[in-house]
Amino acid sequence: MKLLIDDARLDEIKKIYEFYPVAGVTTNPTILSKIGGNPFETLKKIREFIGEDAQLHVQAVSRRAEKIVEEAWHIAKLLGTNTYVKIPAVPEGFKAMKILNETSEIPFTATAIYTPMQAFIAGQCGASYAAPYVNRIDNMGFNGLTVAKDIQQIFERNFMETEVIAASFKNSQQVLELCKCGISAATLSPEIFIALVKNFAIDSAVEDFISDFENFAGKDKTMLDFQ
Ligand code: E4P
Repeated sequence: MKLLIDDARLDEIKKIYEFYPVAGVTTNPTILSKIGGNPFETLKKIREFIGEDAQLHVQAVSRRAEKIVEEAWHIAKLLGTNTYVKIPAVPEGFKAMKILNETSEIPFTATAIYTPMQAFIAGQCGASYAAPYVNRIDNMGFNGLTVAKDIQQIFERNFMETEVIAASFKNSQQVLELCKCGISAATLSPEIFIALVKNFAIDSAVEDFISDFENFAGKDKTMLDFQ
């Protein structure tokens, strides 16, 4: 499972990149609205930091297919390769996906997915990824994990190349459940990223090892102090 960061705050992105394996960054209009200003200033800084090999997912916001297609070209031109244009999985979005699929090499991610059939249609339209919103689906009284797993199964059983990038998590257990099923990718807020391996028992075990070593070798001594 590839792990991406669902955030546009460069300082938070840098903190996660320093410690964890990260495949890229996803954003959405709400995330960008929290930064404000020219969205491309924010996005270019993210691209510069993560490099051209990492994925950057950026959403188009037009309501009509033709305009979504124009936005896609614009986003891809300004942010380079490995930029995935997020397109909502609604009828105008499907139309835009079909046009892009037939006329460009621009990769796109079907977003705002609440039902398996949205993902199936987006996959047929050539989407590289489909993004089910796990937590938002839960909040509607359905099971977000089940929806994400169903989508994965639909892609596999229909021999489709579209991958699942699960989104909208509220805890690390949801991520674990999808990891166990081999879901291709998940995009996480920095808080959930950190929560994946945050555990007092782990910290305490590591501290015990260090203090046991220091007890016989001396304070701040490490293996480097011995031959
Ligand atoms: C995914 O594409 C969205 O950017 C995001 O994960 C939605 O998350 P939220 O439900 O926490 O806003």
